[in-house]
Parts: sequence; structure tokens; C-alpha cells
Amino acid sequence: MKEAAQQFDAIVQERRSVRIYDQESPFDSDAVQRSLERAALAPNSSNMQLWEFYRVQDPEKMRRIAQYCMGQKAATTARELVLIVVRRDLWKQRSRFMLQAYEAYYAERPEIAHRLKRFRSYYGRLMPMYYFQDWLGLWGRIRQLIVFFASFRRPVVWQVRRQDLRVVCHKSAALAAQTFMLSMTAEGYATCPMEGFDSQKVKRFLGLPRGSEINMIISCGPPTPEGIYNERIRVPNDSIIFKL
Ligand SMILES: Cc1cc2nc3c(=O)[nH]c(=O)nc-3n(C[C@H](O)[C@H](O)[C@H](O)COP(=O)(O)O)c2cc1C
Repeated sequence: MKEAAQQFDAIVQERRSVRIYDQESPFDSDAVQRSLERAALAPNSSNMQLWEFYRVQDPEKMRRIAQYCMGQKAATTARELVLIVVRRDLWKQRSRFMLQAYEAYYAERPEIAHRLKRFRSYYGRLMPMYYFQDWLGLWGRIRQLIVFFASFRRPVVWQVRRQDLRVVCHKSAALAAQTFMLSMTAEGYATCPMEGFDSQKVKRFLGLPRGSEINMIISCGPPTPEGIYNERIRVPNDSIIFKL
């Protein structure tokens, strides 16, 4: 095994969901910033980056959010809370950003500038067609019909309705969340991902935008041995990994 693989294996083995954090050890909150910057490098659907990361450090705000996390110890003892938030509603800004980034990139490379056409079509036409939503979800239905008829002629992506797009965005956000947690482990800190929280109250309390959805709240801090509740349990690999 390569050295990098051994190091990565050590990080993956080390990462556990820790529910009680050490209150005395120093906590370098710059590690959270570094880890979020690494999280932003996670693969994501169409590179639309429809996510935002919110750091909560203020003790009073943390106390309230911990309450909304059902008082879980993973939240009440955390040294910082990080919200991984999905922003499907930002698709217009993000596709514009991507298009401008590609235009700037190819402006400096005239010899391959013909490739820009593909990105113009992708971020200028396809993404708006894919992400556009109306209040009643009619566009999703229309997209579904188009896809249905197209499927007789060629392979198609079926996930085009409003609820499908939510899944698309949450998948990408979860990959960022995992990158963040592995990075925090590499930094010597522990994390616990949480979905057990009152999303409406958290959103309202923090004043998150209307169109946002909280993917996960991740608590962070120095680990304690008692914070790991049990040995790691997984179903046997041969019941989940198949060769076809
Ligand atoms: C999406 C998601 C939501 C989770 N929500 C909670 C939670 O609300 N509270 C909690 O204590 N653990 C939560 N967990 C942690 C899991 O219980 C944990 O990952 C699992 O038991 C495996 O343990 P390990 O992370 O130590 O390997 C969550 C994990 C994920 C991925």
C-alpha cells in the first residue's frame, strides 16, 4: 500500500462520531476554516457549488442551536458547530459565475477557445433548464415528459423534478460534509454529523435564507475517550460490496 493510502486509511479509521468533547484542551478554530476550505474542493454536481457553510462560535447561539439539536451531548459539549447548507436557489448566480470563469479562462487561451461553446451551452442553457422551478412544480413535470419521450431514442437522466433536484444538491453537500469531517480528523479534532435537529427553528434563529436547506449540523472539538459510545459496528463487507 502506498504511504498516502496508509495515511488516508489511518484518518478514515480514526474518524468516529464523537458525542462528548473535551472542554479543557485547546481548540484551534483555524482548523475549521482550513477544513471548510478543503470541503469546498469536494466533487459536486456540475460544479454548481450550491452550498454554504455556516460557522457558529458564539456561546449563546451555540447553546440555542444545541437545544434545537434535541439537547444532544454532541451539540451541548461542542466547541464549534458547522452548518452544511444547501442553496438550490442560488443556481442562477452559480451558473453565471461558472460561465464567467470559463470565459475568463478561455480568453487567455485563444488556441483552445472553441471549447468555450460547450460551457456556454452547459451553464447558459442546460443548467437554467434543469434548475428552473415554478411554484407549482409544473416545470419539473414538463421536464419529466421531455425526458420520457427522449428515453425512447437515447439514455437520459431521469432525475429532473423538484424533489430530484433536492437530492442532487444534498448529495453534493454530503460529500462536502464528509471532506470536512475527514479533514478535521487529520487536524486532530473530532466531529459528529447530526440530522436530529429542528431545522425550522435553527433556520429561523440564525436567519438563514428562505430557499436554504440544512443538510447537516456538524459539531466539532477535541475528542474524549468517553465521547465514543461503542466499538465501530459495520455490516460485513461481503454483504455490501458486489462484483458484477
Ligand atoms: C446524515 C447523518 C446524520 C446523523 N445524525 C446523527 C445525530 O443526529 N446524532 C448522532 O449522535 N449521530 C448522528 N449521526 C452519526 C451516526 O450515528 C454515525 O455516523 C454512525 O453511527 C456510525 O458511527 P461512526 O460515525 O462513529 O463510524 C449521523 C450521521 C449521518 C451521516
